[in-house]
Amino acid sequence: MNADLDLLQPYPFEKLRQLLEGVEPADIHAVSLSVGEPKHAAPQFALDALVAGLAKLENYPSTRGSDALRESMAQWLCRRFHIDASRSSTIAEQHVIPVNGTREGLFAIAQCLLDNKQNARSVLMPNPFYQIYEGATLLAGCQPDFYTIDENADDNLDGLSDAQLDQCQMIYVCTPGNPTGAVNSKQALQRLIEKAHQHNFVIVSDECYSEIYREEHGAPCGLLEAANDMGNSTFERCIVFHSLSKRSNLPGLRSGFVAGDANIIKRFVEYRTYQGCAMSGAVQDASIAAWSDETHVEANRCAYDAKYKGVINVLSPELNVATPPAGFYLWPQLPLDDQFFTRQLLAEHNVRTVPGSFLARETHGTANPGAHRLRLALVAPIADCLDAATRIVECLKKHS
Ligand SMILES: Cc1ncc(COP(=O)(O)O)c(C=O)c1O
Repeated sequence: MNADLDLLQPYPFEKLRQLLEGVEPADIHAVSLSVGEPKHAAPQFALDALVAGLAKLENYPSTRGSDALRESMAQWLCRRFHIDASRSSTIAEQHVIPVNGTREGLFAIAQCLLDNKQNARSVLMPNPFYQIYEGATLLAGCQPDFYTIDENADDNLDGLSDAQLDQCQMIYVCTPGNPTGAVNSKQALQRLIEKAHQHNFVIVSDECYSEIYREEHGAPCGLLEAANDMGNSTFERCIVFHSLSKRSNLPGLRSGFVAGDANIIKRFVEYRTYQGCAMSGAVQDASIAAWSDETHVEANRCAYDAKYKGVINVLSPELNVATPPAGFYLWPQLPLDDQFFTRQLLAEHNVRTVPGSFLARETHGTANPGAHRLRLALVAPIADCLDAATRIVECLKKHS
């Protein structure tokens, strides 16, 4: 067996399963705020396109995806990130390919990009984080190096030391962040791009929550927009991932894309040819439909905005919690142990959440930044989210 498999940590939901083993949930309506799986309805026209495309299952799809798919993704990128529309055909040709959900792409890019024979073998990643970054790094034979993140996403990036940047080949950035919901400004992303050139590393920006922003905050900047606006119009050293899972409530479609530096994309296509992960033609058709429409995305954002307003209203007298600019999580600080609280919440109120400490690591003698935090995914229907918030307050009053 590959000995590096032993380096992998149990996934947060496996830890959660163990934590909650033997807990008898209270006998009331169950509400789950644990898994970040969107529950709003998927757009019907995308599902129709999927069905209409079923005949395409009779053919092998190509790794690069159809021209029509890459054009729809490139046009979306140009519209959303203020890139000159006249460049969309070049972007479609050289700078973008589909991935079967960003999870596999975020994993695979590390296998393609990282050189585990170099002295500088670290990969920087946020802490708390999406655990795929860590597993991808370890299985590529490199070393995770964590940077703590909180609500001040720009300070978190600016705080990286020269020594850390010299040691790293690649950095994962997650903006908007999971679980913080914090976003990086264009200026902070541009400073990071300058450092990538100075210190010789690649930036991989996970932007799968970029469309789930609060309307009053406005659309977050992306890494390619930041690069383009500073004259790096070929996106050198920049790679982004986008997904239909959260944007279009299609987590089961397994559809996203990777875009950026043409040299990296070219090598990534070669890598993926061997990995054998082309996107099915029917999924491509549904994806074209979804990337070409914004109306359903706006409705999606409005639904999350309403949940945030209601839930914060219930929680804020008891909890130190604020509405983040983006994402669909709340990441409150708790006055008591997060794992204890998670168990009590299930036992007494039948509400499932994730203890913050399961989403983060203790490093360099620094305490786990997720300890005494809770991650609440506001994915359940609004009535359930409000109900859960009331039960959380009751549980807090009893135990703190
Ligand atoms: C930060 C982050 N990145 C990537 C993903 C993967 O999303 P998908 O593979 O559905 O595109 C998730 C899913 O929860 C996530 O939270």
